[in-house]
Amino acid sequence: MSQIETREIRLHPAQNEFTESPALFRGFVGGRGSGKSWAGAFDLLCRARDQRTYLVASPTGVLMEDTTFPTFTAIAKHLGMWKRVKLTPYPNVTLTTGETIRFRTAEDPERMRGPNLSGVWLDEASLMCEDAYTVAIGCLREAGEQGWLSATFTPKGPHHWTFDVFGKNRPDTALFRARTGENPFNPRDFEATLARQYGPGFARQELGGEFVETEGAEWPAAWFGEHLWFRDWPHPDDITLRVMGLDPSKGRGENGDFSAFVNAARDTRGIIWLEADMDNRRPTTQIVTDAIALAARFEIETGGPLDGLGCESDQFQELLATELIEQSRRRGIQLPVYKLTTKGKPKEERIRRLTPYLSAGTFRFRDTPSTRLLVAQLQQFPVGSHDDGPDALEYAMRLAVHVWNARQAKRTQATRPARRG
Ligand SMILES: Nc1ncnc2c1ncn2[C@@H]1O[C@H](COP(=O)(O)OP(=O)(O)OP(=O)(O)O)[C@@H](O)[C@H]1O
Ligand SMILES: [Mg+2]
Repeated sequence: MSQIETREIRLHPAQNEFTESPALFRGFVGGRGSGKSWAGAFDLLCRARDQRTYLVASPTGVLMEDTTFPTFTAIAKHLGMWKRVKLTPYPNVTLTTGETIRFRTAEDPERMRGPNLSGVWLDEASLMCEDAYTVAIGCLREAGEQGWLSATFTPKGPHHWTFDVFGKNRPDTALFRARTGENPFNPRDFEATLARQYGPGFARQELGGEFVETEGAEWPAAWFGEHLWFRDWPHPDDITLRVMGLDPSKGRGENGDFSAFVNAARDTRGIIWLEADMDNRRPTTQIVTDAIALAARFEIETGGPLDGLGCESDQFQELLATELIEQSRRRGIQLPVYKLTTKGKPKEERIRRLTPYLSAGTFRFRDTPSTRLLVAQLQQFPVGSHDDGPDALEYAMRLAVHVWNARQAKRTQATRPARRG
């Protein structure tokens, strides 16, 4: 006698409405961890039909490997629908009923052109450019039938294409929204913990899933696209400068300031690659040890020596810079510490010096939790509750310019013919 196994699946209300909707183009917008990827994957598995072909796109290979693909795999296996996967190099999954699911990245949307499709799921669609959407909907014609598209994403303000496409009641389109707190499958207090770190405007976007420009933010959300994130540092031969900036704000408990380090590597094209290390619980006594360890790791990972560590040295903080010099010397490392002062310039004014770099898209950000926090602080500047990351970045950039100019001046001197007496 054959046995029918039943597997219980529970959906929260927004997920349920999204999967039930008959609209051709459906968006699921929500806060961080509101169950977007889960809904996108489950929805595709519910809609998949025998022998048909589907496409799942992630903004980058990293996001595909880390979230989209594992989420899909877990649910397909749980539902008993998983048959096999082939890497080509991205996964092509075959389901037990013969459907093919092609996983692709949307980094180059033109490469998403391909076979005719019955359905497409764009995960983290707001981190893709609009072409990913327009190219994808042009493929929805398998077996002469109109296919569907779903997009799951966190909002990126009212000027982003995802709002134009899904937020304006266009024909054939429907949008579903969930707050982070509406997903009962998160840890308890998940939303409240994040809310304590985010400023109110940013929380409306990141937790509420609302299309808002962070009110009062200096720099538009569009300057922080996903194409700016990286995993591996450039090749050592391509790096022309390595500096660190340190804003040693004193840790004052959970909601206190962050002590922030920013490592910056400039490449031959003038692109500046950044990684932050931010901690709001780090005792002041640990800053020196962490600085030495971080500098060593930065040098190893980028394959070359540090050109300078710029440390805020106003008043008593000068002691810290001195301590850094002495302790590193004692360990036989001798960090190239530069004491940087604010010269009485207000913090906001100093941080605004980052504008030309940001508007020109000069920065790349390493995809780590601390660097994400730095970018969140940049996006909220000057209305966010913290700006230690941007401050440390400003120190790093100020030092980079100083070291670079000094180096150029030395070169000019060396090449200038000696003056005859
Ligand atoms: N219907 C569900 N049943 C069981 N678990 C769920 C369900 N929906 C979401 N989850 C769980 O909730 C957590 C967050 O879900 P998910 O990763 O889909 O959120 P997200 O909105 O895509 O997050 P991010 O903003 O990080 O992309 C995950 O652990 C996921 O497994
Ligand atoms: Mg997700």
